[in-house]
Amino acid sequence: MRRKLVIGNWKLHGSLLENQGLLNRLKQELHDLEGVDAAVCLPYVYLYQAQAVLRDSAIAWGAQNVSQFTEGAYTSCISAKMVAEFGCTYTIVGHSERRALKLESNQVATKRLLNALHAGLTPIFCVGETLDERDGGMAELIVRNQMLNVVYGLDNKSFALAKKLNMVIAYEPVWAIGTGEHATPEQAQRMHSFIRMMIAERDREFAEQIRILYGGSMAPKNAESLLNMPDIDGGLLGRAALVAEDFIDTCRIASHCWQQQAKFNPQAHTSAVIV
Ligand code: 13P
Repeated sequence: MRRKLVIGNWKLHGSLLENQGLLNRLKQELHDLEGVDAAVCLPYVYLYQAQAVLRDSAIAWGAQNVSQFTEGAYTSCISAKMVAEFGCTYTIVGHSERRALKLESNQVATKRLLNALHAGLTPIFCVGETLDERDGGMAELIVRNQMLNVVYGLDNKSFALAKKLNMVIAYEPVWAIGTGEHATPEQAQRMHSFIRMMIAERDREFAEQIRILYGGSMAPKNAESLLNMPDIDGGLLGRAALVAEDFIDTCRIASHCWQQQAKFNPQAHTSAVIV
């Protein structure tokens, strides 16, 4: 059965002093949660600090992006290989805040994903529609389009690497990010199931294995209803990841949901449930 995965995306937040307190708190509290993996994705400049604090903890860490280039005259870019040197497990790619700034097309996001994989990092590939797209009945079409390169564009070797490194998908409806308004569990389940079925088009085994996270105003008050859904394998948290109690509580809720699901459905598998 898939373990839940709760990841904090710190975005453009933090300071050496604040981070120290937050990371230490997470390290103290999150060590023996059943069925849950936890991680934080910090700004590049704090990866060294994360490595120093979390290296002997149960919490993994990662970056928020990696360059589409591997090396060369690309001022300000940070490569996947560089990030990997700081002990990172994960990197986010294709976040909608990057797409919105026109810094990331599907092609560029896929290039970043490939570089992450070949540097041994687990990519967290983000997809999600805007409110206009949802209102226009285009949500699934948009997400399908964002997923196409990942499902069909990767060569066999890279796809095998994605499977080996447990690539993660994060469904983050743009209208739910930072707004306090989250997708309903049914809306999210429907899209997660859609994404899983798309992956099954290429590899059924990977579709069973891959963790699909929900992101967009997830917080302790709504986490349980979302994480109880069969295809919601965890959360990618923004705001709630900056408050130790909120992040810790969400991880505890994830553990509780995992235990419930394990109890009632030990053979939990691809549900392909459309609610
Ligand atoms: P919020 O949890 O603040 O809505 O942010 C979600 C997000 O963008 C995580 O990547």
